[in-house]
Formats: sequence, structure tokens, C-alpha cells
Amino acid sequence: MADKVYVAGVDVGSTTAKAVILDSDRNIVGKSLQDVSPRVAEDAETAFVKACQDAGIDREQVALITGTGYGRLKVRFGSLIVTEISCHAKGSQFIYPNTRLTLDIGGQDTKAIRLGPNGEIIDFSMNDKCSAGTGRFLDVCADALGHSVADLGPMSERSKRPTKITSTCTVFAETEVSNQLARGRKPEDIVNGLHHSIAERSISLMRRVGIEDEITFTGGVSRNTGLVRALEEKLGRKINVSPLSQWFGAIGGAIFALEELEKGNDPSFTQLEVSS
Ligand SMILES: Nc1ncnc2c1ncn2[C@@H]1O[C@H](COP(=O)(O)OP(=O)(O)OP(=O)(O)O)[C@@H](O)[C@H]1O
Ligand SMILES: [Mg+2]
Repeated sequence: MADKVYVAGVDVGSTTAKAVILDSDRNIVGKSLQDVSPRVAEDAETAFVKACQDAGIDREQVALITGTGYGRLKVRFGSLIVTEISCHAKGSQFIYPNTRLTLDIGGQDTKAIRLGPNGEIIDFSMNDKCSAGTGRFLDVCADALGHSVADLGPMSERSKRPTKITSTCTVFAETEVSNQLARGRKPEDIVNGLHHSIAERSISLMRRVGIEDEITFTGGVSRNTGLVRALEEKLGRKINVSPLSQWFGAIGGAIFALEELEKGNDPSFTQLEVSS
């Protein structure tokens, strides 16, 4: 029997590196998550090796690897390079086929991507260089409250009255939280207020590309159930969120790799840049 064929997607973001291994039947058989350090190329490699271990395969069994994300050029062992906009869109439609709008909030970027029925990117918009309202902002706020970001969702669910937050600027995040605490606001109300404020900001970004019926939320910040709830309240509808949402960029990358193999292309020795 011929050996099974595997592909990989490695999404090296500003904050974390994510890798996913897919078999040729499009099953996700392994994944990993790794903090990004100043040695980005090593982190990309570690993420890939860990995902292979998680899948119980040798790296030689992976026929094609796609690099994506902010640090995609550091995936030197990969053969395909695809932008994260394309990969998050692809991953969203792979898991939720009717997705027409993807909201990706990572450590440093927020992106709204509008898609056609066949995955074509119709329009996208992203925050400028400023990291206001992104994962970094929430990381600093959580620190200032003496909690981890994983606590923020459950905390905000205890809130009855969100505190009004005027700025989602990362530089002033600590001051904003300290000022609200000094005014006697409860930590859960502050966190709820932070979520409402980020939800507003994200919805304005989504409006720039056009709000569509089926919305999929990707990136690490989508793990925050409090923010999901704030978005759903303001949009007046449910949005798609998966336990794998932080890996959607890597999943999309792996699907691009599989499609190249299925087309009979094997860009093993040259890096092929796909921009669609
Ligand atoms: N369990 C969790 N609950 C809530 N938030 C989380 C959790 N885990 C991670 N995050 C948030 O996710 C962020 C990282 O997201 P992600 O891995 O998508 O970033 P990235 O891809 O490296 O960044 P970018 O796409 O902006 O370059 C962190 O900054 C953190 O705020
Ligand atoms: Mg990212």
C-alpha cells in the first residue's frame, strides 16, 4: 500500500506560530501552537515539528508545506507562500462553507475579509499599524488586572453593567484599567466594557467591506467568549467560532498545499507565491 500523503500549513503570526497537518482526505491529523520569540525561523520550524509529532508522522512524509502569516518568509522549509488574508478566508470556508465574511483578530492585526461563494476575496480591510483593539491590547489589560487572557471571557460573563471604555489604545491600556479600578469599577465590568469597545471597533472594520450573512471569527482572540458575546449582541446574530479558530490560517495554508498537489504541481524547489 502506498504511503499516505500529508500536507502542512504553518502560520507564523506576530505573536504565535501555528502549524496544522492534513491528510489527503482533508482530515486534520495534527496541530501545534508556539509562542513567537525573536528567533522566528526556529519557532516556525518547532511549530512544524511539533505538529508532525502530534500527527504521529515523520516530517519526510509531508509532501508540501505552505507558509503564511506575518512571518511567512521565515518558513524556509516550505515551498508555497500564501498571504494570511487568503489563508484565513480559505480556512473559514473549509470549516464553514457558507462563510461570506471572515473577522480575524490576532495579536497585532484585525482583518475583515469579504468572500464570494467560491472563496474569491471580494474585499478586505485591516487596522493600520496601530494595535488598538487587538490581542496585544487585551494581553496588556489582562496583565493590568492580574489575570490571563483566558480568564477574560468567563470574567465578563459575571458582569451586569459594562464600564464605558473610551480608548482601546494599547499604549494607554494599563492607565485606562488602573483609572477604572481607582473609580471603584468591578474588574468584570471593566473587562465587559473592553469587549464592547473592541466589538464596536471590529464592526466598523467589517462595515468597510460590507456585513454579510454568515460571519466566521478567526485568530486567537476569537477564543475569548466574552468578545464573541459582545459581537453577537451588537450584530444581532450568531457568528461562527470553532475550537480550532486560532488555526484557521494554518488550515487554509494546508488546503492551498493540497490543491497544488491535486493540480499535479510540486513546487518543491521554488517558493511559489499565491496571491489570490
Ligand atoms: N485562551 C485564550 N482566550 C482568549 N484570548 C486568547 C487565548 N489564547 C490566545 N488569545 C489571544 O490571541 C492572541 C494571539 O492570536 P493569534 O495567535 O491569532 O495571533 P497572531 O496570528 O500571532 O497575530 P497576527 O495575526 O496579528 O500577526 C493573543 O494576543 C491573545 O490575546
Ligand atoms: Mg494571525
